Amino acid sequence: MQTVDAATLREKLTGIFGAFSDPRPSLNIFGDVAGLMRNWTVHATHPRCFGLFNPSVLPVAAAADALAATFNPQLAVWSMAPAANEIERHVLRFLTARLGLDPDTTMANFCTGGAEANLSAVLGALSRAFPRWAEEGLSALPSPVGIYLSAESHDSLTKVARMVGLGRGVLRYVPVDESFRMDPDTLLKRIRRDRARGRHPLMVVGTAGTTGAGAIDPLATLADLAAGAGAWFHVDAAYGGIAALSDRLSPTLAGIEGADSVTWDAHKTLPIPMGAGMFFCRHPEAIHRAFSVRSSYAPGSVRDTVDPYTTTAQWSRRFIGLKVFAVFAELGAAGVADQVDRQAHLADLLRNLLEEHGFRVVNDTPLPVVCFTHPRIAAGEITAHAVAKAVRATGEAWISPVRLGAEPIEALRACITSHRTEERDLRALLDLLGRSLGP
Ligand SMILES: Cc1ncc(COP(=O)(O)O)c(C=O)c1O
Repeated sequence: MQTVDAATLREKLTGIFGAFSDPRPSLNIFGDVAGLMRNWTVHATHPRCFGLFNPSVLPVAAAADALAATFNPQLAVWSMAPAANEIERHVLRFLTARLGLDPDTTMANFCTGGAEANLSAVLGALSRAFPRWAEEGLSALPSPVGIYLSAESHDSLTKVARMVGLGRGVLRYVPVDESFRMDPDTLLKRIRRDRARGRHPLMVVGTAGTTGAGAIDPLATLADLAAGAGAWFHVDAAYGGIAALSDRLSPTLAGIEGADSVTWDAHKTLPIPMGAGMFFCRHPEAIHRAFSVRSSYAPGSVRDTVDPYTTTAQWSRRFIGLKVFAVFAELGAAGVADQVDRQAHLADLLRNLLEEHGFRVVNDTPLPVVCFTHPRIAAGEITAHAVAKAVRATGEAWISPVRLGAEPIEALRACITSHRTEERDLRALLDLLGRSLGP
């Protein structure tokens, strides 16, 4: 991407489009817009974009999104978009089963992303633990509550804690081990100590694929601990849910089938455009209590179907799931699994190449995210931030710096998110890293 400041872009837009006084043919509009986007966008779909969970997009997924926009069905009410709602249900039932959850008893919906799914989870937990909460709000809580999560968990939960009115203090961060996984012994001690002081354990959040290091918390152990504490067990698998699609990787999610709810973002790893979050929950009645409304102007409900506006935060609903459906339909489940395995294999290759070239890999995950450092970074001769910046400045690849753990470790992070990435792209990255580290 070329560097640019906001003033330059604003000037260009004013120059080309002004106050929209002259109507223009759409081909012209797209020519100009595509030019702006081409020059001034981080190209997430490029095979050397080792970035932040923004995958490349298959043509079938982009076409599906355009088709959804063209029909513009309203999915809020089943009877207004029966075909679209059933297409979403079809693919969600398939994915529910891949998580090891029962499609007949688990409710599932598409949403904007992981942040919305995590919000749904906390609302579900509140509604189940305190049935009067849906009417009376936080005054129905007899005591303070705690949401227990790893120190490496995603910051969307901070926003959620604020949005639901509990405040950030409700988040009880648990330290991680050397592999950046939540330490269950400390979790248990924390819950016990809080309980002795009158704090009710509302929820334990296990992260399957932390944003920084792709670490997968010990889900089976957390499921047992949460059940023992009477807490809702939520798994934030926004990134790591993808492992469920591969028979080789799915054992790394063992324990997810014991979750009360799961967040999984299709748009973080499948070759589809944003946004396609997914929320799965084993307690439809709690979710219903949290979101249920009936509006006189909405068509009535149809037997054996769900009106999504009564079970989700959204009202008007886009046909989010079509692009996910289209990718599975085109590649087949085995074809998608092959892509997942291929990306995991490339990450293994990158780890080996890095170690061969004097770097040290600092994370431990089966997912295709590789965090690494170099003796020169460890010695303070150059920062990870400066190396990432120098790599990006070449315009040939994109990586980011990352800070991991309590110590903390300053590292570089390369995430393979593109089905177009090949071994030669990894070698090119190594070359760029070498040049960016300097002599
Ligand atoms: C683990 C995790 N949870 C939640 C989120 C939020 O997801 P979204 O950006 O789709 O709202 C992210 C985003 O990176 C994430 O990595």
